[in-house]
Amino acid sequence: MHSIIANDYELEIGSILDSSFASLLDKYSDVKKIIVSDDNTSEHCVPFLISNYDGLAEAEVVILPAGEENKSLAIVANVWELLTEYGLGRHDLIINVGGGVVTDMGGFIASCYKRGMQFINIPTSLLSMVDASIGGKTGVNLDHYKNQIGVFNDPEAVYIDPIFLSTLESNELLSGYAEMIKHGLIHSTDLFNKVIEQLDIPFELELELLKESIQVKNEVVKRDPLEGGERKILNFGHTIGHVIEGFMLGSEGMTHGHAVGIGMVFEAYLSTKKGKLSQEEFKTIESAILDVFPVPTFSNDDIQSMTALLTNDKKNKGGKILCCLLEKIGECTFDHEISEQEVTEVFLHYKNQQINLN
Ligand SMILES: NC(=O)c1ccc[n+]([C@@H]2O[C@H](COP(=O)([O-])OP(=O)(O)OC[C@H]3O[C@@H](n4cnc5c(N)ncnc54)[C@H](O)[C@@H]3O)[C@@H](O)[C@H]2O)c1
Repeated sequence: MHSIIANDYELEIGSILDSSFASLLDKYSDVKKIIVSDDNTSEHCVPFLISNYDGLAEAEVVILPAGEENKSLAIVANVWELLTEYGLGRHDLIINVGGGVVTDMGGFIASCYKRGMQFINIPTSLLSMVDASIGGKTGVNLDHYKNQIGVFNDPEAVYIDPIFLSTLESNELLSGYAEMIKHGLIHSTDLFNKVIEQLDIPFELELELLKESIQVKNEVVKRDPLEGGERKILNFGHTIGHVIEGFMLGSEGMTHGHAVGIGMVFEAYLSTKKGKLSQEEFKTIESAILDVFPVPTFSNDDIQSMTALLTNDKKNKGGKILCCLLEKIGECTFDHEISEQEVTEVFLHYKNQQINLN
């Protein structure tokens, strides 16, 4: 068991059965407990927890409809009504068991219900383990705008146990690797190379690599919990990634990691265009990422719709679109202004490449 202090809460990585979860449940023995899960984690992950912890025997299990398209205020309102029916008080406990959608929504549900109650995150997707469940960002989407409504609020504890990854579908596992690639790109060449090598054997993830990736996020968040400055580098790939993901919500959908993967290539392209990242490093990033996360065929209308979404990005300031750029592999800087025109150009660059290829 590897225990890290993340701001004021406990972050433990390894078998949950060896963690402090049992003693934490003892601490909450006299309060109601609600497990927030989704269609998949209620089946694959919650039974394991209930069968191993007597303290969860009486817990109510809330099952959210799985998927990004359900990360909405309407679903959150349904859950608040359900919690009221259960007679949940502000001293009771919410335990989120799921991927990033569940930890983001469950955290938000807990943070606003009766002006805030305690919650624990037990992430079950790789993406949620390395990224979404830690750092205190909670929230929901508003139409096509990603995470437009939300609050910063830390959980009481986070328990990260790779055992849950065994039932995750392969595209969802790969999605988590996108955030691990990002941690490499903003932190060090060594970590980037290790993650890229691991992509050849994605189901054999080393615990040490998982810990290293989590540490990158945790250290940045500890230094800048409310994203006043440095934390913005964790958004690398997300300015463009979020508009792709938000746009795709209206059609066949795309995993968060796939959209961020493309976003990272596009933002790396802009980094090179703006004289920062070298051509050679850009090519390394481009081939490693596009190999796993190909760019779909977008029409000109699609591209126009996506660039229009950019103007409402949370990271914008004073009407300007702000973005992170790479200086080199392992060094990212933030608050760079980019124009709609530049983003359109990068989309067209990849669209034309596809036409050439076909
Ligand atoms: N709060 C943050 O800092 C932060 C950071 C990154 C991403 N996010 C958010 O996280 C979300 C993406 O997270 P995600 O990729 O985990 O998506 P997700 O929660 O939708 O999970 C992906 C799919 O995997 C299923 N699943 C999860 N665990 C499983 C398991 N153990 N076995 C079988 N199926 C399982 C889910 O039911 C879902 O169908 C996005 O909404 C994104 O905005 C938040």
